[in-house]
Amino acid sequence: MRTEEAQLPLRYRTPADWARSVLQRPLELLNDHAHLEKKAAANALELLNRWPEPNPPENWVAAMTAVARDEVEHLSTVCRLLARRGGRLTKQHGNPYASALRGLVRQGHGPAELVDRLMVSALIEARSCERFKLLGEACEEDPELRKLYRGLWASEHGHYRTFIQLAEQIQPTHAVEKRWDEMLDAEAEIIEAQPTGARMHSGA
Ligand SMILES: [Fe+2]
Ligand SMILES: [Fe+2]
Repeated sequence: MRTEEAQLPLRYRTPADWARSVLQRPLELLNDHAHLEKKAAANALELLNRWPEPNPPENWVAAMTAVARDEVEHLSTVCRLLARRGGRLTKQHGNPYASALRGLVRQGHGPAELVDRLMVSALIEARSCERFKLLGEACEEDPELRKLYRGLWASEHGHYRTFIQLAEQIQPTHAVEKRWDEMLDAEAEIIEAQPTGARMHSGA
């Protein structure tokens, strides 16, 4: 197992065939990807607003601002690549994977809700990392895409760590660990149940 795989706690392993299959429709995949970057930027700004009272983690605003800035940069990179290859960002976009994850959030439960929101964000980042790695390996003949996916791996992995570290500052360690364990199981079921298609979080 490579180091970067060892760092991801995910409980469903995407088969390598998934990447070869989604790369058959690269414009569709890039469009889906661009929407995810846009949503990740908006999500970071929304979380910024939700800082926990009365004692928010010291780095809350700085961390969320940094994530939002990274995501906007990713969005711009992906959109540029999409346009150069003759594609166009669509107006509509659905993401049943993220919607299902958001359904796990304990709404109206104060710190527990915030921890859940951070964990959902962390799970999406971690799953994206796993997928970027597979995509990078599957597009050896396309240096531009390979560079994109490899570069994003590192950035999204940093975001995954950031969200988990913030969650650890909001509730006691045992509560965070227990919830993370439940979330990892739930995510594995959700990703495995996704329909196939040229999307970052599709089923295999
Ligand atoms: Fe991103
Ligand atoms: Fe990210």
